[in-house]
Amino acid sequence: MRHLMILMLILFSPIWGETVNSDDGRPSCSRCDLHLCCNCSYNGFTSIPVVTDQALILNLSFNNISMVTQDDLTGHVRLRVLDLHGNRLAAIHPTAFDSLWSLEELDLSDNLLTVLNHRWFSKLEILLQLNLLNNPYSTLGSPPLFLGLVRLRRLMFGGPDLKELRKEDLSGVTNLDELTVHGSNLARYDSGTFGNIWPLGSVILSLYGPLLTQPMMAAALLDDVCNPETQITLLDIHLKESFSIQPFKESIRRIRNLSVHNLLISDEATVSLMALIDGVPLRSLSIVGLTLTGEGRWETTNWTDLRSMDEFSVSDVTILDVLKFAMTVELKFLFQYQKKISFINSKMFLLSCYLTKLMVNTQYLDVSDNLLTDLTLSYMVCDDVETLQKLRVLNISGNPLKSLSALSHLATKLTRLTHLEVSRTGYSSMPPSCSWPSTLRYLNISRAKLTTTTPCLPKSLQVLDLSYNELKEFVLVLPFLRELHLSGNKFLRLPPGGSYPNLQTLTIQSNTLNIFGLSDLQSYRRLENLEAGYNKFVCSCEFVTFLRSQLVGSGDIKIKDGKHSYVCDSPLYLQGVAVGQVNLSIIQCQPVLFVSVSCGVALFLGMLLSVLLWRCHTFWYLKMTWAWLKAKRESQQRRRQRNMEGSEPLLSYDAFVSYSERDASWVENFLVPEMEEQSDTDSVNPTAPLTLCLHKRDFLPGHWIMDNIMTAIERSRRAVFVLSENFVQSDWCRYELDFSHFWLFEAGGDAAILILLEPLSKDAIPKRFCKLRKLMSSTTYLEWPQEEDRRPEFWRSLRNALKRDDEQEN
Ligand SMILES: *[C@@H]1O[C@H](CO)[C@@H](O)[C@H](O)[C@H]1NC(C)=O
Ligand SMILES: *[C@@H]1O[C@H](CO)[C@@H](O)[C@H](O)[C@H]1NC(C)=O
Ligand SMILES: *[C@@H]1O[C@H](CO)[C@@H](O)[C@H](O)[C@H]1NC(C)=O
Ligand SMILES: *[C@@H]1O[C@H](CO)[C@@H](O)[C@H](O)[C@H]1NC(C)=O
Ligand SMILES: *[C@@H]1O[C@H](CO)[C@@H](O)[C@H](O)[C@H]1NC(C)=O
Ligand SMILES: *[C@@H]1O[C@H](CO)[C@@H](O)[C@H](O)[C@H]1NC(C)=O
Ligand SMILES: *[C@@H]1O[C@H](CO)[C@@H](O)[C@H](O)[C@H]1NC(C)=O
Ligand SMILES: *[C@@H]1O[C@H](CO)[C@@H](O)[C@H](O)[C@H]1NC(C)=O
Repeated sequence: MRHLMILMLILFSPIWGETVNSDDGRPSCSRCDLHLCCNCSYNGFTSIPVVTDQALILNLSFNNISMVTQDDLTGHVRLRVLDLHGNRLAAIHPTAFDSLWSLEELDLSDNLLTVLNHRWFSKLEILLQLNLLNNPYSTLGSPPLFLGLVRLRRLMFGGPDLKELRKEDLSGVTNLDELTVHGSNLARYDSGTFGNIWPLGSVILSLYGPLLTQPMMAAALLDDVCNPETQITLLDIHLKESFSIQPFKESIRRIRNLSVHNLLISDEATVSLMALIDGVPLRSLSIVGLTLTGEGRWETTNWTDLRSMDEFSVSDVTILDVLKFAMTVELKFLFQYQKKISFINSKMFLLSCYLTKLMVNTQYLDVSDNLLTDLTLSYMVCDDVETLQKLRVLNISGNPLKSLSALSHLATKLTRLTHLEVSRTGYSSMPPSCSWPSTLRYLNISRAKLTTTTPCLPKSLQVLDLSYNELKEFVLVLPFLRELHLSGNKFLRLPPGGSYPNLQTLTIQSNTLNIFGLSDLQSYRRLENLEAGYNKFVCSCEFVTFLRSQLVGSGDIKIKDGKHSYVCDSPLYLQGVAVGQVNLSIIQCQPVLFVSVSCGVALFLGMLLSVLLWRCHTFWYLKMTWAWLKAKRESQQRRRQRNMEGSEPLLSYDAFVSYSERDASWVENFLVPEMEEQSDTDSVNPTAPLTLCLHKRDFLPGHWIMDNIMTAIERSRRAVFVLSENFVQSDWCRYELDFSHFWLFEAGGDAAILILLEPLSKDAIPKRFCKLRKLMSSTTYLEWPQEEDRRPEFWRSLRNALKRDDEQEN
């Protein structure tokens, strides 16, 4: 029953979708990564979820947490970062953070805290960064909040509701890297509140209201933070009349580095401001978001002394009354001293020679993201007067430029130029040749529309960026080039390295490279860093093997862009697989080797088998068995036929003579004459001639030799074997012998007669002729005598042996 209740409780829990901790109904969050960084933001939590005690970073931003109770964070002794930005926190228990001994960063910004309590921070002794921005508290409260935070380096507080800053509010804060105060509605500032913080690296102030309505108070505040070492950033300033400048009157002399974000200024205020900064040691002035409400009537400012100012940068300029705006003042005062000048994104369509010839000290000029065209840009250099002779860096990116030859024409006049950046322009082609200042080292034409490159590019370049164009190849010789950037083009191959003997860095990501190999890389003699990911790699074995070895850093070249960016595009079954993950088998990788090795092995085995079979005379045995079977069958057939006809076996020869061709002369000269002719030598007992069957003479032409042999043997009463070395060598004889042996066996008589033409020891006969060997031991054989007088004796014996049975009986 209890279980059912718990189940119901879980099922109908209002915080559906979160895991519910069974202890006290708190949700839990387990989205922690390997580094124990738990990202629980955007999860709809309404209270602090249960998270592992081991967490180092706990991000609870953008939830709907309304309070932090006493126990919510107990046990998180390892937590370093706690982010509660963007919740609906209205209450935090005084001891809620007490167990967070390791906390270095706490973000409570964008919540609903109306009161701040010093007890929250009393145990956070090593806190480095605290963000209390944009909560509806009107004071920091007392006792002083930050008293115990001796290691605090970055502090952000304030918001639209902050009304008061009292002298003791910042006690305990002694030095800061960064202080951010939003006091747009600040009504009270006790002079000296920020005065004890030193050093102070950077101050970001939003003092919109005070600057307009309480200049004395704002001045006091600025006075406290403005030091030569401190970088001052002012947000949202509206300077309408001359007296709005008053707050800066004292402090401006102590500022070296001033940055203003979102400045709205009238002509009157501009003139006053110029008067104010006349002769001050301000080194750097940067304005991001400048809105000019006047008509440019700054005549009286022409004597302003800005000789201390090295850098002047303005971006995102808006002129409200652009039709009436006409800068009538001679701007020499503004430009003659600066080393660095930037006019970025300011809708500037003309940079006239009149202006640039004032820039006698300018080394760096950035006019990116304006409306300069080839024509209006050409006015940048005067024809008669030397202009911009100290310029080293020129950035005209993001202007609607089209002609690279116009640019080159312009650049030649800038004799010290080393860096030229013309990204995001409309260059689509290159003239065949161009001239450039000999000093040019760095050229950036990325994100243009170039389709080809020509020797227009200067040989002196050390860094060349042609990323994100439409190039297919790059074959220029640039002997001094150290960095080449070709990402985002349409390269199929790496450019030939021989043309860039000094190249150290090559980036060629996001092209259509299929493959590259060691030889490609080796052609670059000095290459150290390569980025070639996000290409359409064909994962051949060669490539995979090569790249893997490169990725683990076995070569001299570092692959900078990480394994994950090298992904196979083909073959299809490997598409999307990281090259490091590909496993290819040997069959895929070495097909030629594989086939040749397997063929070789097969051939070797075949040969081995053949040798083995040959050694065992298997072929001979097979041939013999086959012939034997065939002969047996056929002879049986014939016999059956004869039996049916009732006739006697047809014997037409007395003997079949089996001999080797090489012994034919003996057979023809001795045997045949002696046997087949009427013998007169022995007149006492004249013998009838015998008929012999000789294959040479008696075989029917046209019949198969096997058949001939078989019929011959069948039709002969006896078989005479003329044995000699020659006989043993000849296969046919062997066959005949074999067959006859079978026949003998069948016939059951001693039908075989062996004649030894030469002494032939039994051992000289190969072992496989076991039948012949057997025959030689079982049957008496006749030896052909070499002595002439013993021959009649031999013939007699032979004749006896060949005698017909009936004759013998007689
Ligand atoms: C944390 O998670 C949220 C929601 O899933 C996601 O939108 C956000 O980008 C993540 N933040 C970080 C820093 O990873
Ligand atoms: C927080 O709650 C409000 C209403 O109570 C809701 O509109 C909002 O979407 C919630 N925010 C999140 C991140 O869940
Ligand atoms: C917490 O998450 C938000 C949104 O995901 C992110 O903007 C913020 O930087 C993260 N905070 C920290 C400390 O990482
Ligand atoms: C001014 O401060 C900005 C931001 O801290 C810094 O980048 C810049 O180098 C500083 N300029 C000078 C001249 O000190
Ligand atoms: C400023 O301009 C006035 C007239 O407009 C001129 O008389 C005066 O010499 C100029 N001063 C300087 C320093 O250029
Ligand atoms: C303009 O080019 C220079 C030199 O390359 C560079 O330092 C600067 O950041 C560029 N400016 C912009 C706005 O990209
Ligand atoms: C070239 O310019 C682009 C865009 O302005 C920039 O992102 C890139 O880093 C520059 N290249 C080099 C090598 O500085
Ligand atoms: C290749 O093998 C490795 C380890 O043996 C494995 O992690 C990986 O998933 C395999 N890759 C593919 C595409 O099967």
